Amino acid sequence: MTLSRRSLMRWMGRAMLGTGFAGIFAGPAAATDRRTTPAQIEGPYYPSVKPEEADWNLLKVGDGPLPDGEPLDLRGVVHDRRGNAVAGARVEIWQCDSHGIYDHPGHDNRDQFDRRFQGYGRAVTDAEGRYRFLTLMPVPYGDRPPHIHVTIRSDTHDTLTTQLYLKDHPENDRDGLLALMIYPGQDLLMIEARDADLGLERAGKRGDFDFVLV
Ligand SMILES: [Fe+2]
Repeated sequence: MTLSRRSLMRWMGRAMLGTGFAGIFAGPAAATDRRTTPAQIEGPYYPSVKPEEADWNLLKVGDGPLPDGEPLDLRGVVHDRRGNAVAGARVEIWQCDSHGIYDHPGHDNRDQFDRRFQGYGRAVTDAEGRYRFLTLMPVPYGDRPPHIHVTIRSDTHDTLTTQLYLKDHPENDRDGLLALMIYPGQDLLMIEARDADLGLERAGKRGDFDFVLV
């Protein structure tokens, strides 16, 4: 993956905000301030064409069966730095299938993409800022650790584009993008997933992740 200097600087700026480094320049943060979710680059596989079905449930395409892989129920809240819910935020996620293939023309082996998996989904936060996706536990591909891409747009806050990772996954240590982040900036992008009965035909995991927008 190649980072342009401009996108790298923009990304590092957002990452520093997330680590609290902004406080050095802006003075002490108010007691109610929360740490901003760090941004990361969009990457090359944002869908060039959105799938026909683009809802919150990436595990169900039409009336088709479950895709390969381990189901993940990902939920959380989008709020601002003072803890206020951001209602009506448009949350998008995209990720590879359980075999490491993206539904994107730039990805090798796209023809082998698991068509039972939606690959991309979107949801709108409710009045309490809550969102939810049924998707797959991400898997590593190439030199990247498991991750889920996210973009959040709202009429009242800055757009956030980032990537979520799995807490304590061994591949995280080898990742160039994560290595660029100053600890504990990395810590702000980790999903803590635990075993859960999701009521599906296969056992899965529940993951919670809250976003903090500027
Ligand atoms: Fe990716």
